[in-house]
Amino acid sequence: MPNILVTGGAGFIGSHTCVALLEAGYDIIVADNFSNSKPEALNRIKTITGKDLKFYKTDLLELEAVEKIFAENKIDAVIHFAGYKAVGESVAQPVKYYHNNITGTLMLIKAMQKYGCKKIVFSSSATVYGPVNPIPYVEDMPTSATNPYGYTKLFIEQILKDVYTSDNEWSVSLLRYFNPIGAHPSGLIGEDPNGIPNNLLPYICQVAVGKLERLGVFGDDYDTPDGTGVRDYIHVCDLADGHLCAVKYVLKHKGVEAVNLGTGKGSSVFDVLHSFEKACGKQLPYKVLPRRPGDLPAYYAKTDKAKELFGWEAKYSLDEMTAHSWNFISKNPNGL
Ligand code: UFG
Repeated sequence: MPNILVTGGAGFIGSHTCVALLEAGYDIIVADNFSNSKPEALNRIKTITGKDLKFYKTDLLELEAVEKIFAENKIDAVIHFAGYKAVGESVAQPVKYYHNNITGTLMLIKAMQKYGCKKIVFSSSATVYGPVNPIPYVEDMPTSATNPYGYTKLFIEQILKDVYTSDNEWSVSLLRYFNPIGAHPSGLIGEDPNGIPNNLLPYICQVAVGKLERLGVFGDDYDTPDGTGVRDYIHVCDLADGHLCAVKYVLKHKGVEAVNLGTGKGSSVFDVLHSFEKACGKQLPYKVLPRRPGDLPAYYAKTDKAKELFGWEAKYSLDEMTAHSWNFISKNPNGL
């Protein structure tokens, strides 16, 4: 079976993708510097799958360390998750974000070029659709960004397109994620952010386990059915399956494809909150706050391309996603 290098494999989406890859019989090598993840995630991956993986504690900024991975292993394809992802922090510390995300990716590509590995699946984001496109978002729409985090995704997409233009032997899959939530049904792995969460689900989870007092709902005066922001929430296991499909695709085809990974359905902040309340069996306190600067009212994916290209579509419902998030946080209230 092919050998896949997973950068950021100990993170939220990375760890679930490692499980999917191992269960499908792939051999995997994880490279992670644990900047926003914990070594325990790797033990949990092994417990869930009963399989082993090879691990390098590597920072992608160190070219020699990245090259060492390629020198010691024959790698057929790379799934590149590693990167910083907090929008607000990226505005406060743009150089940190550009350096880590973009330079890290350049080092990875350099190592791939040196060792003749030309297949990559990249963790992009729906954020590249920018603020002005109509919904649903379709892959051939013009892209843009509004903050440094979003620009790193946009620039890396461009860099990978340029790499392909310079060498048509490359195969690049740019996966544009919508809002990943949920956790592995075992409750062994899930989202485990450092500090106070920025994103909706981890925040709700902290309220549910009593670590935060109440959810702040960022605006209830949007032009949406209940006035709160609408997003396309997707179960992280569906997302992991999408990566499996993308890897199979890049192993067989050359070229560059941007592909949305979403459900095609929008849910509001209140939809998510009420679904979570059903899962945990209690009402959760919230307070409506002003809109968060930079937030869009509503967006969701058009999902036809993933279905046509990969034969993939999301399967889990919102209630299953929140039930699995609750299962994880109630079993791991202090994280991993
Ligand atoms: N929200 C709240 N309260 C919170 C957190 C979020 O009401 O405490 C609301 C937001 O206003 C938004 C929705 O919940 O309407 C989802 O917010 P998230 O922060 O969970 O997710 P975003 O859609 O803002 O962010 C996601 C990804 C980013 C990406 C961004 C833009 O997490 O990586 O989409 O596409 F950049």
